[in-house]
Amino acid sequence: MGTSFARSFALLALLCLLLPCHGKGKLSTKFYAKSCSGVATIVRSVMAQAVAKEPRMGASIIRLFFHDCFVNGCDASILLDDTATFTGEKNAGANANSVRGYEVIDAIKTQVEAACNGTVSCADIVALASRDAVNLLGGPTWNVQLGRKDSRTASPSAANANLPGPGSSAASLVSAFAAKGLSARDMTALSGAHTVGRARCLFFRGRIYGEPNINATFAAARQQTCPQSGGDGNLAPFDDQTPDAFDNAYYTNLVAQRGLLHSDQELFNGGPADALVRKYSGNAGMFANDFAKAMVKMGGLMPASGTPTEVRLNCRKVN
Ligand code: HEM
Ligand SMILES: *[C@@H]1O[C@H](CO)[C@@H](O)[C@H](O)[C@H]1NC(C)=O
Ligand SMILES: *[C@@H]1O[C@H](CO)[C@@H](O)[C@H](O)[C@H]1NC(C)=O
Repeated sequence: MGTSFARSFALLALLCLLLPCHGKGKLSTKFYAKSCSGVATIVRSVMAQAVAKEPRMGASIIRLFFHDCFVNGCDASILLDDTATFTGEKNAGANANSVRGYEVIDAIKTQVEAACNGTVSCADIVALASRDAVNLLGGPTWNVQLGRKDSRTASPSAANANLPGPGSSAASLVSAFAAKGLSARDMTALSGAHTVGRARCLFFRGRIYGEPNINATFAAARQQTCPQSGGDGNLAPFDDQTPDAFDNAYYTNLVAQRGLLHSDQELFNGGPADALVRKYSGNAGMFANDFAKAMVKMGGLMPASGTPTEVRLNCRKVN
């Protein structure tokens, strides 16, 4: 009995060394059922207002969640402002002048603090807000696992290293997601978020002027507002048919060689992702289902054990 217990304990400790051990960070959909039962309603109502005012904000919040989770887990590290003595993730290459929606998270946090102070983490607010963003734009909904804590640290170098760029190959996209425990299928489904939102000219210029696997009509249309030089910040919708609808148009676009980023079209370029892209393009329900599952999975990424955490009172700074 004693030895078998000791052996199981040793085995568990060994597993924890080999795999990220999420023991203390067990998430649950009922985490705030007693301590802050109104949190989901508050998040939904602020998100509904924000998306009604500007539909792109829904897209921006979805991206914020991805950029939080891929850098040391979903810990709201991306929300920390730089100070004189602290450099966070906001101004890292993948985020600077690009990730947006911080004010919406602040507005939610203010209302949540008024209802139940010191209880709900900023990381959970981002997870709930991104679920609502998807649904408010016409996409699926799901139950959000809750109970994350906010980190007291951030890592600009991990933000630069872990977030894939728009010039990525299919193989490097697969490996960037695999590094987070996400499959090629998860990656292909999560990329469908590019059915909403906007991208800047500098990220797709190379594709619309130089790549062979692009529909010529589409390339010409994008060139209208993205000149060969200048206009780096000019925006174009990822999906020019239904730019603010969370549908499966990302995949029908890819099949028609209307992917905006090089990295987008990599998912339908004669490689292993083609078959799934074709399936999603013909089956909106299958995409919606897989996307929701993959968001829950991505939402389970945790900071490394030993990372100092807390429930931040102001999402922009440590307590
Ligand atoms: C697969 C690798 C990915 C790459 C290379 C990538 C790259 C990009 C780039 C370059 C932009 C435009 C940024 C700008 O112009 O400032 C963008 C926007 C966006 N990304 Fe991704 N992304 C990826 C995956 C994801 C995932 C997994 C999600 C969410 C689940 C996501 C959601 C979004 C959204 C919604 C926007 C539009 C944001 C807005 O309009 O504010 N992306 N992405
Ligand atoms: C929450 O509010 C109460 C009453 O105003 C206050 O005493 C307490 O310090 C607050 N807790 C936090 C964590 O801000
Ligand atoms: C490109 O898209 C247009 C529709 O905008 C379509 O008429 C045309 O056939 C497409 N070109 C190719 C080569 O598929």
